[in-house]
Amino acid sequence: MELPWAEPYRMKTIEPIRRSTREDRDAWIREARYNLFNLRSERVYVDLLTDSGTGAMSSAQWAEMMLGDESYAGASSYYKLKATIEELLGFEHFLPCHQGRAAENVLFSALIGVGDAGAGKVVPGNSHFDTTKGHIEFRKAHAIDCTIAEAFDTQAEHPFKGNVDLGKLEAVYEAHPREDVPVCILTVTCNSSGGQPVSMENIKDVSSLCRKYGVPLFFDSARFAENAYFIKTREPGYEDKGIREIVREMFSYADGMTMSSKKDGIVNIGGFVAFRDKALWQKASTFNIMFEGFNTYGGMAGRDMGALSVGLKEACELDYLTARVGQVAYLGRLLTGYGIAVQRPYGGHAIFVDAKRLLPAMPREEFIAQTLGVELYKEAGIRGVEIGTLLADRDPETGEERYPALELLRLAIPRRTYTNAHMDYVAAALANVKERAASIKRGYRIVSEAPIMRHFTVELEPAE
Ligand code: F0G
Repeated sequence: MELPWAEPYRMKTIEPIRRSTREDRDAWIREARYNLFNLRSERVYVDLLTDSGTGAMSSAQWAEMMLGDESYAGASSYYKLKATIEELLGFEHFLPCHQGRAAENVLFSALIGVGDAGAGKVVPGNSHFDTTKGHIEFRKAHAIDCTIAEAFDTQAEHPFKGNVDLGKLEAVYEAHPREDVPVCILTVTCNSSGGQPVSMENIKDVSSLCRKYGVPLFFDSARFAENAYFIKTREPGYEDKGIREIVREMFSYADGMTMSSKKDGIVNIGGFVAFRDKALWQKASTFNIMFEGFNTYGGMAGRDMGALSVGLKEACELDYLTARVGQVAYLGRLLTGYGIAVQRPYGGHAIFVDAKRLLPAMPREEFIAQTLGVELYKEAGIRGVEIGTLLADRDPETGEERYPALELLRLAIPRRTYTNAHMDYVAAALANVKERAASIKRGYRIVSEAPIMRHFTVELEPAE
């Protein structure tokens, strides 16, 4: 018989988590104003809020923490990270930042400008992540979503739902003069469309279209290794290639990248921005020094750069990726088995539950996916995150709600942190919510909200 996969590691340290009662959770979530970000983590049993910075480091990474060189300039930990980035990703120039959004800030300051410099400019891409969009809109530019239409139908089977619709992208290039399109951002894997990958073929095509119109192409690379795994397992011609070989090929089509190291760097904090062009690196380094820190540490401690230099390599090991992506699919299969609609095919870092299908009786004005998230927390102390109307924010010009095509509850799985028994627990809890779905007809209304990225701090009250 074919042997099943098992995690290619064992546990040396554990962190206790505790169950709670339904009464406790009802009170705690009310106190948190029905915003899952406001909950204290000890009031959560299985925390699937994010896979960002929540992974478990390896013994080799902890060893690097002890070797960390905290020199202000020229630290050996910086050179370790530099060597890994060159060897693995093929970029000679990089700047360490404290996390992904800081990398975006540095890159966009160099490419778009600061203040209102982005007015009249557009940045096309495949469903930009919210911080990316936030940094674009903060500069008064517009993010244009060119993702393929299949991505917005959760039940459509397509192996690469992160792909760019080349027709949509070319239309953007035709409609705007070159100087109004400072950069194109390709997110691998595409978080907003469900942790869905971009194919090598699409990467190549996007790259040649960008070249044709003279627009630089940068990858938002938070989950680049998971993307490479999907290319290996889903794209003809790549089945016999190694993950590292695929990663090198992916990045060979980019002019640079931003990285949230908290995902496929398997560290708790950190990021970087990397460039092929030395002149652009130099321009960006001024902003890095202003916003982050001197070029050889930026926003990171030496020990964290050391741990990252190891984590990036571990994230590219096939056995690790098989277990990692396999665990996400395991949860996906359980939920599908309970008749719960989730984004298909299963993504790389999370399962995205189609909340509109699960709560069909609810009005969209009362935040369907948020309501599902609150119900799941009350049911079993599980924390997911809304990817729906709250996250979409209001239109910055009209102030109107922007109802997205999908209302999703994301269950993001931290790397190397939970077991499949936790996944069994999560799936059973969501099945219980589904059992009583017909009785969930009303959601929440906003009591207070921030003007940008409101989902982090929004306060809600029951609509009835
Ligand atoms: N790009 C993508 C695709 C992301 O998913 C994230 C963060 C960022 C950029 C920003 O990186 O958090 O290090 O500043 N995503 C987290 C999430 C927050 O939960 O999906 P950051």
